[in-house]
Amino acid sequence: MSIIIETMRGTKTKEVPIWIMRQAGRYLPEYRKLRATLPSFMEFCLNPEAVSEATIQPLKRFNLDAAIIFSDILVLPYALGINVEFHDREGPQLERIQGIKGLKIDSRILEKVSSALKITQEKMQKEFPNKALIGFAGAPWTVACYMVEGKGNRDFTNVRKFYYSNKQDFKDIISILTEETARYLINQVKSGAQIIKIFDSWAGILTPDLFEKFVIEPTRKIVQALKSEVGEIPIIGFAKGAGFMTFEYAKMTEINCVAIDQTMKMSWIRENLSQDIIPQGNLDNALLFSGKSDIEEETIKILDTFSDRPFIFNLGHGVLPETPIESIEHLVRVIKNYKKCSKINK
Ligand code: CP3
Repeated sequence: MSIIIETMRGTKTKEVPIWIMRQAGRYLPEYRKLRATLPSFMEFCLNPEAVSEATIQPLKRFNLDAAIIFSDILVLPYALGINVEFHDREGPQLERIQGIKGLKIDSRILEKVSSALKITQEKMQKEFPNKALIGFAGAPWTVACYMVEGKGNRDFTNVRKFYYSNKQDFKDIISILTEETARYLINQVKSGAQIIKIFDSWAGILTPDLFEKFVIEPTRKIVQALKSEVGEIPIIGFAKGAGFMTFEYAKMTEINCVAIDQTMKMSWIRENLSQDIIPQGNLDNALLFSGKSDIEEETIKILDTFSDRPFIFNLGHGVLPETPIESIEHLVRVIKNYKKCSKINK
Protein backbone atom coordinates (compact mmCIF):
# COMPACT_ATOMS: atom_id res chain seq x y z
CA MET A 1 0.00 0.00 0.00
CA SER A 2 1.14 3.56 -0.65
CA ILE A 3 2.69 5.27 2.40
CA ILE A 4 0.46 8.25 1.77
CA ILE A 5 -2.67 6.14 2.30
CA GLU A 6 -1.15 4.50 5.38
CA THR A 7 -0.37 7.97 6.72
CA MET A 8 -3.90 9.16 6.01
CA ARG A 9 -5.17 6.21 8.04
CA GLY A 10 -3.14 7.42 11.00
CA THR A 11 0.03 5.31 10.76
CA LYS A 12 3.42 6.96 11.28
CA THR A 13 5.32 5.49 8.31
CA LYS A 14 9.14 5.18 8.20
CA GLU A 15 9.40 7.76 5.43
CA VAL A 16 7.30 10.91 5.32
CA PRO A 17 5.13 10.82 2.18
CA ILE A 18 5.50 13.69 -0.27
CA TRP A 19 3.58 14.96 -3.26
CA ILE A 20 3.45 18.48 -4.67
CA MET A 21 0.49 20.66 -5.61
CA ARG A 22 0.64 21.34 -9.36
CA GLN A 23 3.41 18.77 -9.66
CA ALA A 24 2.57 18.35 -13.35
CA GLY A 25 2.81 21.64 -15.17
CA ARG A 26 4.79 24.28 -16.96
CA TYR A 27 8.04 23.94 -15.01
CA LEU A 28 8.46 20.50 -16.68
CA PRO A 29 9.75 20.58 -20.30
CA GLU A 30 7.99 17.28 -21.05
CA TYR A 31 4.67 18.86 -19.95
CA ARG A 32 5.22 21.90 -22.19
CA LYS A 33 5.93 19.57 -25.11
CA LEU A 34 2.79 17.49 -24.49
CA ARG A 35 0.67 20.61 -23.91
CA ALA A 36 1.78 22.00 -27.30
CA THR A 37 0.15 19.02 -29.05
CA LEU A 38 -3.35 20.31 -28.17
CA PRO A 39 -4.75 23.74 -29.04
CA SER A 40 -6.34 24.75 -25.74
CA PHE A 41 -5.91 23.95 -22.06
CA MET A 42 -9.55 22.78 -21.80
CA GLU A 43 -9.11 20.43 -24.77
CA PHE A 44 -6.03 19.11 -23.02
CA CYS A 45 -8.02 18.51 -19.80
CA LEU A 46 -10.68 16.60 -21.77
CA ASN A 47 -8.24 14.34 -23.62
CA PRO A 48 -7.88 11.22 -21.42
CA GLU A 49 -4.61 10.03 -23.01
CA ALA A 50 -2.90 13.42 -22.66
CA VAL A 51 -4.24 13.82 -19.13
CA SER A 52 -2.98 10.41 -18.15
CA GLU A 53 0.47 11.10 -19.55
CA ALA A 54 0.73 14.51 -17.83
CA THR A 55 -0.40 12.93 -14.54
CA ILE A 56 2.38 10.35 -14.64
CA GLN A 57 5.17 12.67 -15.88
CA PRO A 58 6.25 13.87 -12.40
CA LEU A 59 6.35 10.27 -11.09
CA LYS A 60 8.87 9.40 -13.79
CA ARG A 61 11.18 12.19 -12.67
CA PHE A 62 10.81 12.35 -8.90
CA ASN A 63 10.30 9.86 -6.10
CA LEU A 64 6.87 11.23 -5.16
CA ASP A 65 4.30 9.12 -3.32
CA ALA A 66 1.21 10.19 -5.24
CA ALA A 67 0.03 11.52 -8.57
CA ILE A 68 -2.86 13.97 -8.87
CA ILE A 69 -5.07 13.58 -11.92
CA PHE A 70 -4.22 16.34 -14.35
CA SER A 71 -7.28 18.54 -14.66
CA ASP A 72 -8.64 21.83 -13.36
CA ILE A 73 -11.27 22.96 -10.87
CA LEU A 74 -12.93 24.86 -13.75
CA VAL A 75 -13.79 21.67 -15.66
CA LEU A 76 -16.96 21.42 -13.53
CA PRO A 77 -18.34 24.88 -14.48
CA TYR A 78 -17.46 24.02 -18.08
CA ALA A 79 -19.50 20.82 -17.78
CA LEU A 80 -22.37 22.94 -16.37
CA GLY A 81 -22.45 24.80 -19.70
CA ILE A 82 -20.31 27.83 -18.88
CA ASN A 83 -17.73 28.93 -21.41
CA VAL A 84 -14.25 28.74 -19.80
CA GLU A 85 -11.07 29.89 -21.54
CA PHE A 86 -7.47 29.97 -20.41
CA HIS A 87 -5.26 32.61 -21.99
CA ASP A 88 -1.52 32.56 -21.46
CA ARG A 89 -0.42 34.48 -18.35
CA GLU A 90 -3.90 36.01 -17.91
CA GLY A 91 -5.55 33.26 -15.95
CA PRO A 92 -8.97 31.80 -16.68
CA GLN A 93 -11.86 33.75 -18.26
CA LEU A 94 -15.42 32.53 -17.68
CA GLU A 95 -18.84 33.56 -18.85
CA ARG A 96 -20.26 35.32 -15.75
CA ILE A 97 -23.40 34.01 -14.09
CA GLN A 98 -25.95 35.62 -11.75
CA GLY A 99 -28.01 32.56 -10.88
CA ILE A 100 -28.52 28.92 -11.75
CA LYS A 101 -30.83 29.39 -14.72
CA GLY A 102 -29.64 27.33 -17.66
CA LEU A 103 -26.97 25.43 -15.69
CA LYS A 104 -27.16 21.77 -16.51
CA ILE A 105 -24.46 19.12 -16.29
CA ASP A 106 -23.26 17.57 -19.52
CA SER A 107 -22.09 14.26 -18.11
CA ARG A 108 -20.15 13.41 -21.29
CA ILE A 109 -17.62 16.08 -20.27
CA LEU A 110 -17.06 14.69 -16.78
CA GLU A 111 -16.86 11.16 -18.21
CA LYS A 112 -13.62 12.26 -19.92
CA VAL A 113 -12.14 12.78 -16.46
CA SER A 114 -13.43 9.36 -15.37
CA SER A 115 -11.83 7.68 -18.34
CA ALA A 116 -8.55 9.53 -17.71
CA LEU A 117 -8.62 8.20 -14.14
CA LYS A 118 -9.28 4.65 -15.33
CA ILE A 119 -6.40 4.70 -17.83
CA THR A 120 -4.06 6.30 -15.29
CA GLN A 121 -4.99 3.86 -12.54
CA GLU A 122 -4.23 0.92 -14.87
CA LYS A 123 -0.85 2.39 -15.87
CA MET A 124 0.05 3.12 -12.27
CA GLN A 125 -0.79 -0.38 -11.11
CA LYS A 126 1.81 -1.65 -13.58
CA GLU A 127 4.47 1.05 -13.36
CA PHE A 128 4.05 2.60 -9.92
CA PRO A 129 2.16 0.13 -7.74
CA ASN A 130 3.18 1.82 -4.49
CA LYS A 131 1.97 5.27 -5.44
CA ALA A 132 -1.53 6.61 -4.94
CA LEU A 133 -3.78 8.41 -7.42
CA ILE A 134 -5.47 11.57 -6.16
CA GLY A 135 -8.75 12.86 -7.65
CA PHE A 136 -9.95 16.38 -6.94
CA ALA A 137 -12.48 19.15 -7.39
CA GLY A 138 -12.76 22.78 -6.41
CA ALA A 139 -14.92 23.49 -3.38
CA PRO A 140 -18.26 25.19 -4.13
CA TRP A 141 -17.21 28.58 -2.70
CA THR A 142 -14.02 28.82 -4.81
CA VAL A 143 -15.71 27.59 -7.99
CA ALA A 144 -18.61 30.03 -7.39
CA CYS A 145 -16.06 32.85 -7.08
CA TYR A 146 -14.83 32.20 -10.62
CA MET A 147 -18.36 31.71 -11.97
CA VAL A 148 -19.71 34.97 -10.53
CA GLU A 149 -16.58 37.10 -11.06
CA GLY A 150 -15.77 35.61 -14.48
CA LYS A 151 -12.04 35.58 -13.74
CA GLY A 152 -9.50 35.46 -10.95
CA ASN A 153 -9.32 38.35 -8.51
CA ARG A 154 -7.41 39.42 -5.41
CA ASP A 155 -10.37 39.40 -3.00
CA PHE A 156 -13.48 38.76 -5.11
CA THR A 157 -15.26 41.88 -3.84
CA ASN A 158 -17.86 41.56 -6.60
CA VAL A 159 -18.72 38.05 -5.44
CA ARG A 160 -19.11 39.12 -1.82
CA LYS A 161 -21.22 42.09 -2.90
CA PHE A 162 -23.28 39.78 -5.11
CA TYR A 163 -24.03 37.53 -2.13
CA TYR A 164 -25.26 40.41 0.07
CA SER A 165 -27.49 41.78 -2.66
CA ASN A 166 -28.72 38.45 -4.13
CA LYS A 167 -28.64 36.04 -1.22
CA GLN A 168 -31.00 33.44 -2.62
CA ASP A 169 -29.35 33.36 -6.05
CA PHE A 170 -25.94 32.91 -4.47
CA LYS A 171 -27.18 30.15 -2.16
CA ASP A 172 -28.69 28.39 -5.18
CA ILE A 173 -25.33 28.52 -6.95
CA ILE A 174 -23.58 27.04 -3.90
CA SER A 175 -26.19 24.37 -3.56
CA ILE A 176 -26.05 23.20 -7.21
CA LEU A 177 -22.24 23.17 -6.98
CA THR A 178 -22.35 21.15 -3.74
CA GLU A 179 -24.59 18.53 -5.30
CA GLU A 180 -22.68 18.27 -8.58
CA THR A 181 -19.26 18.28 -6.91
CA ALA A 182 -20.30 15.40 -4.65
CA ARG A 183 -21.56 13.42 -7.65
CA TYR A 184 -18.39 14.26 -9.61
CA LEU A 185 -16.09 13.11 -6.79
CA ILE A 186 -18.08 9.91 -6.22
CA ASN A 187 -17.56 9.11 -9.91
CA GLN A 188 -13.86 9.88 -9.60
CA VAL A 189 -13.54 7.33 -6.76
CA LYS A 190 -15.51 4.77 -8.77
CA SER A 191 -13.08 5.38 -11.67
CA GLY A 192 -9.92 4.78 -9.64
CA ALA A 193 -9.11 7.81 -7.46
CA GLN A 194 -7.75 6.50 -4.14
CA ILE A 195 -7.61 9.85 -2.34
CA ILE A 196 -9.78 12.94 -2.88
CA LYS A 197 -8.67 16.54 -2.46
CA ILE A 198 -11.05 19.48 -2.23
CA PHE A 199 -9.45 22.81 -3.18
CA ASP A 200 -10.94 25.90 -1.52
CA SER A 201 -8.33 28.37 -2.70
CA TRP A 202 -10.39 31.47 -1.78
CA ALA A 203 -11.60 30.31 1.63
CA GLY A 204 -9.45 32.97 3.30
CA ILE A 205 -11.44 36.02 2.19
CA LEU A 206 -14.67 35.32 4.09
CA THR A 207 -15.92 36.48 7.49
CA PRO A 208 -16.04 33.65 10.04
CA ASP A 209 -19.86 33.41 9.69
CA LEU A 210 -19.72 33.17 5.92
CA PHE A 211 -16.79 30.78 6.18
CA GLU A 212 -19.07 28.45 8.15
CA LYS A 213 -21.89 28.90 5.64
CA PHE A 214 -19.98 28.67 2.36
CA VAL A 215 -16.76 26.78 3.15
CA ILE A 216 -17.50 24.41 6.04
CA GLU A 217 -21.14 23.55 5.33
CA PRO A 218 -20.84 22.64 1.61
CA THR A 219 -17.58 20.75 2.21
CA ARG A 220 -19.18 18.82 5.08
CA LYS A 221 -22.06 17.83 2.79
CA ILE A 222 -19.67 16.69 0.05
CA VAL A 223 -17.59 14.64 2.53
CA GLN A 224 -20.76 13.03 3.91
CA ALA A 225 -22.11 12.20 0.46
CA LEU A 226 -18.77 10.71 -0.57
CA LYS A 227 -18.36 8.59 2.53
CA SER A 228 -21.93 7.32 2.50
CA GLU A 229 -21.65 6.35 -1.18
CA VAL A 230 -18.12 4.91 -1.44
CA GLY A 231 -17.09 4.20 2.17
CA GLU A 232 -13.92 5.31 3.92
CA ILE A 233 -12.12 7.21 1.18
CA PRO A 234 -9.27 9.43 2.49
CA ILE A 235 -10.10 13.11 1.90
CA ILE A 236 -7.76 16.11 1.97
CA GLY A 237 -9.29 19.55 2.45
CA PHE A 238 -7.44 22.74 1.53
CA ALA A 239 -9.04 25.92 2.83
CA LYS A 240 -6.29 28.29 1.76
CA GLY A 241 -5.88 31.33 3.99
CA ALA A 242 -8.25 29.90 6.63
CA GLY A 243 -5.92 30.89 9.50
CA PHE A 244 -7.49 30.18 12.90
CA MET A 245 -10.63 28.77 11.17
CA THR A 246 -8.50 25.81 10.02
CA PHE A 247 -9.29 23.84 13.19
CA GLU A 248 -13.05 24.28 12.95
CA TYR A 249 -12.84 23.53 9.21
CA ALA A 250 -10.93 20.27 9.77
CA LYS A 251 -13.17 19.12 12.61
CA MET A 252 -16.60 20.06 11.26
CA THR A 253 -16.10 18.89 7.67
CA GLU A 254 -14.82 15.46 8.81
CA ILE A 255 -12.00 15.47 6.28
CA ASN A 256 -9.08 13.13 7.11
CA CYS A 257 -6.26 15.46 6.23
CA VAL A 258 -5.95 19.23 6.23
CA ALA A 259 -3.62 21.01 3.82
CA ILE A 260 -1.88 23.98 5.39
CA ASP A 261 -0.64 27.02 3.44
CA GLN A 262 2.75 28.67 4.02
CA THR A 263 1.38 31.46 6.25
CA MET A 264 0.74 29.11 9.16
CA LYS A 265 3.12 28.21 11.96
CA MET A 266 3.46 24.44 11.92
CA SER A 267 4.18 24.15 15.68
CA TRP A 268 0.76 25.76 16.25
CA ILE A 269 -0.85 23.22 13.94
CA ARG A 270 0.92 20.39 15.76
CA GLU A 271 -0.33 21.62 19.12
CA ASN A 272 -3.91 22.44 18.18
CA LEU A 273 -4.94 20.02 15.44
CA SER A 274 -6.82 17.01 16.75
CA GLN A 275 -4.76 13.78 16.57
CA ASP A 276 -7.17 12.06 14.19
CA ILE A 277 -6.60 14.68 11.47
CA ILE A 278 -3.42 14.44 9.41
CA PRO A 279 -1.69 17.73 8.55
CA GLN A 280 -0.17 18.33 5.10
CA GLY A 281 2.07 21.18 3.98
CA ASN A 282 3.52 23.80 3.93
CA LEU A 283 6.88 24.76 2.41
CA ASP A 284 6.76 28.18 0.73
CA ASN A 285 6.63 27.51 -3.04
CA ALA A 286 8.92 30.53 -3.67
CA LEU A 287 11.62 29.01 -1.44
CA LEU A 288 12.36 26.58 -4.30
CA PHE A 289 14.02 29.56 -6.01
CA SER A 290 16.57 29.75 -3.17
CA GLY A 291 19.75 27.70 -2.66
CA LYS A 292 20.00 24.07 -1.60
CA SER A 293 20.94 24.82 2.00
CA ASP A 294 17.86 27.06 2.51
CA ILE A 295 15.58 24.38 1.06
CA GLU A 296 17.18 21.78 3.32
CA GLU A 297 16.94 23.90 6.45
CA GLU A 298 13.28 24.83 6.00
CA THR A 299 12.28 21.31 4.99
CA ILE A 300 13.95 19.78 8.03
CA LYS A 301 12.30 22.36 10.26
CA ILE A 302 8.89 21.19 9.03
CA LEU A 303 9.81 17.50 9.28
CA ASP A 304 11.12 17.96 12.83
CA THR A 305 7.85 19.59 13.89
CA PHE A 306 5.96 16.43 12.96
CA SER A 307 8.60 13.83 13.84
CA ASP A 308 6.17 12.25 16.32
CA ARG A 309 2.90 12.26 14.35
CA PRO A 310 1.68 11.23 10.88
CA PHE A 311 2.28 14.00 8.37
CA ILE A 312 2.30 14.51 4.59
CA PHE A 313 4.87 16.84 3.06
CA ASN A 314 3.73 19.33 0.41
CA LEU A 315 4.17 22.97 -0.53
CA GLY A 316 1.93 25.68 0.92
CA HIS A 317 0.50 26.28 -2.58
CA GLY A 318 1.15 25.04 -6.13
CA VAL A 319 4.61 24.81 -7.66
CA LEU A 320 5.42 27.98 -9.64
CA PRO A 321 5.97 27.84 -13.43
CA GLU A 322 9.72 28.67 -13.49
CA THR A 323 10.69 26.50 -10.50
CA PRO A 324 14.13 24.88 -11.05
CA ILE A 325 13.76 21.13 -11.45
CA GLU A 326 16.91 20.62 -9.32
CA SER A 327 15.12 22.24 -6.38
CA ILE A 328 12.36 19.64 -6.50
CA GLU A 329 14.98 16.87 -6.84
CA HIS A 330 16.77 18.25 -3.82
CA LEU A 331 13.57 18.62 -1.80
CA VAL A 332 12.57 15.00 -2.43
CA ARG A 333 16.11 13.83 -1.57
CA VAL A 334 16.06 15.70 1.75
CA ILE A 335 12.71 14.17 2.69
CA LYS A 336 13.61 10.63 1.66
CA ASN A 337 16.96 10.82 3.55
CA TYR A 338 15.44 12.61 6.53
CA LYS A 339 16.43 10.18 9.27
CA LYS A 340 20.07 10.63 8.26
CA CYS A 341 20.12 14.40 8.40
CA SER A 342 17.64 15.35 11.10
CA LYS A 343 19.13 16.63 14.32
CA ILE A 344 16.32 15.02 16.33
CA ASN A 345 16.69 11.56 14.82
CA LYS A 346 20.49 11.35 14.93
O1 CP3 B 1 -0.60 18.82 -10.86
C1 CP3 B 1 -1.68 19.20 -10.37
O2 CP3 B 1 -1.77 19.75 -9.25
C2 CP3 B 1 -2.97 18.90 -11.11
C3 CP3 B 1 -3.42 19.93 -11.95
C4 CP3 B 1 -4.17 21.17 -11.45
C5 CP3 B 1 -4.29 22.30 -12.30
N1 CP3 B 1 -5.13 23.19 -11.68
C6 CP3 B 1 -3.63 22.44 -13.59
C7 CP3 B 1 -3.50 23.77 -14.22
C8 CP3 B 1 -4.90 21.43 -10.28
C9 CP3 B 1 -5.06 20.58 -9.04
C10 CP3 B 1 -5.51 22.71 -10.45
C11 CP3 B 1 -6.41 23.30 -9.44
C12 CP3 B 1 -6.80 24.71 -9.59
N2 CP3 B 1 -7.11 25.39 -10.74
C13 CP3 B 1 -7.02 25.58 -8.50
C14 CP3 B 1 -6.91 25.21 -7.04
C15 CP3 B 1 -5.52 25.18 -6.54
C16 CP3 B 1 -4.86 26.53 -6.48
O3 CP3 B 1 -3.91 26.73 -7.25
O4 CP3 B 1 -5.27 27.35 -5.64
C17 CP3 B 1 -7.41 26.84 -9.03
C18 CP3 B 1 -7.74 28.09 -8.23
C19 CP3 B 1 -7.47 26.69 -10.45
C20 CP3 B 1 -7.89 27.71 -11.44
C21 CP3 B 1 -6.84 28.00 -12.43
N3 CP3 B 1 -6.42 27.15 -13.43
C22 CP3 B 1 -6.08 29.19 -12.52
C23 CP3 B 1 -6.21 30.39 -11.62
C24 CP3 B 1 -5.21 29.02 -13.62
C25 CP3 B 1 -4.27 30.05 -14.20
C26 CP3 B 1 -3.06 30.22 -13.38
C27 CP3 B 1 -1.90 29.53 -14.03
O5 CP3 B 1 -1.16 28.86 -13.29
O6 CP3 B 1 -1.74 29.71 -15.24
C28 CP3 B 1 -5.40 27.72 -14.15
C29 CP3 B 1 -4.69 27.10 -15.29
C30 CP3 B 1 -3.94 25.83 -15.00
N4 CP3 B 1 -4.43 24.79 -14.24
C31 CP3 B 1 -2.66 25.48 -15.51
C32 CP3 B 1 -2.37 24.20 -15.02
C33 CP3 B 1 -1.14 23.36 -15.30
C34 CP3 B 1 -1.81 26.34 -16.44
C35 CP3 B 1 -2.30 26.29 -17.83
C36 CP3 B 1 -1.35 25.63 -18.82
O7 CP3 B 1 -0.44 24.85 -18.47
O8 CP3 B 1 -1.55 25.86 -20.05
